Amino acid sequence: MDNIKSKLVEKFKKTYNQEPERFFFAPGRVNFIGEHIDYNGGKVLPFAINKGIFAAIKYDDSNKIKLCSHIDNQVYEIDYNNDFNQYKNTSLWIRYPLGVIQALKNQGYRFKGISLYYWSNLPVGSGLSSSAAIEILTAYVFYLQIKTASQIDRIQMAILCQQVENQFIGVKCGIMDQFSIAMGKKDHLILLDTHSLEYEYLRFLFPDVSIVVINTNKPRTLAGSKYNDRRTECKLSLEILQKKYKINTLVEATEDMLNDLVSNTLQKRTMHVISEHKRVQKIRELLTQNNSSIENLTLIGKLLYESHYSLKEYYEVSCYELDVIVEESQKIDSVYGARMTGAGFGGCAIALVKQQEVNNYISQISKKYKEKTDLEADIFEVQIEDGVKEI
Ligand code: GLA
Repeated sequence: MDNIKSKLVEKFKKTYNQEPERFFFAPGRVNFIGEHIDYNGGKVLPFAINKGIFAAIKYDDSNKIKLCSHIDNQVYEIDYNNDFNQYKNTSLWIRYPLGVIQALKNQGYRFKGISLYYWSNLPVGSGLSSSAAIEILTAYVFYLQIKTASQIDRIQMAILCQQVENQFIGVKCGIMDQFSIAMGKKDHLILLDTHSLEYEYLRFLFPDVSIVVINTNKPRTLAGSKYNDRRTECKLSLEILQKKYKINTLVEATEDMLNDLVSNTLQKRTMHVISEHKRVQKIRELLTQNNSSIENLTLIGKLLYESHYSLKEYYEVSCYELDVIVEESQKIDSVYGARMTGAGFGGCAIALVKQQEVNNYISQISKKYKEKTDLEADIFEVQIEDGVKEI
């Protein structure tokens, strides 16, 4: 952390010719299980990680916001009185922080002049929620101008950032990413009911097991539009079923209702949603038994593999690269389970690996992956961390 802080000071000084005042960190997130059900009323099990986005800031008396990041090292100077909606349809990274600030302005808040420098060690666009991290980070920094840290309602902050993603950025994501980045807790997975927003922290019980992230480095072209297609398919399935059954969300559907969905595509999507929700509940039971035996771990691992195959066959959001990682991991003895994580179409997979064997695992998978895809994967162990904070 200290290293990163001195790097931020250096970058900030170089950019703005002065010292920063305060420093912040928003983690990325990994979803352990419960994929593509956070917009179907399901329970999900994400956690915040020890990689994320950092910010150094300094207030001033101007009426301006200055933004800079390592992405393009350009300073964007924007007057608070401007309508930030003009940045909606750009591809500039500043649309994320500006979307959040616009949403706060819409709520009637007024802010001081500020210079921000963002720096990240989270691979951008890799499915570890860099977009939700910059949204939550910005919201936190700006809320701190009007509230103390303990007065900030982190759940409301997550909801605000989800709305920004939906309405300003145009990706119809669920609440999972923003919630886990705002509410993360060290060494705990967050069991979040996305319908009621009730949540419970579940301790990750296995000290000899590492959670390894494998970034396919496959460009996620069209991920946003395909993601929105899945949402539409789920919405349609729910509307069809609701004509006959009393259900409020798609996770309440049961297998015997599938025949009512005449289209094979809608049947497959709903099949994934139903089975994934059951897997989350099974994992919850296993994690609350306070039993860190190999048997338990093996059962958890099996559910991770099942989740992957369901995402591949029924939800159709995996890809060749992610499948290679999961299939090759499954052949290695020190691996308990693996699956794609996040929206899919590229991005990252996770694997549960015996801790002493992590280095072997990394070298074996890197080699196989390169052979089969001609791409280099980035593979690293992650720790389960707290949510957004001042550092
Ligand atoms: C993306 C979205 C989340 C969630 C996942 C899939 O990360 O932002 O809301 O839907 O995909 O589980």
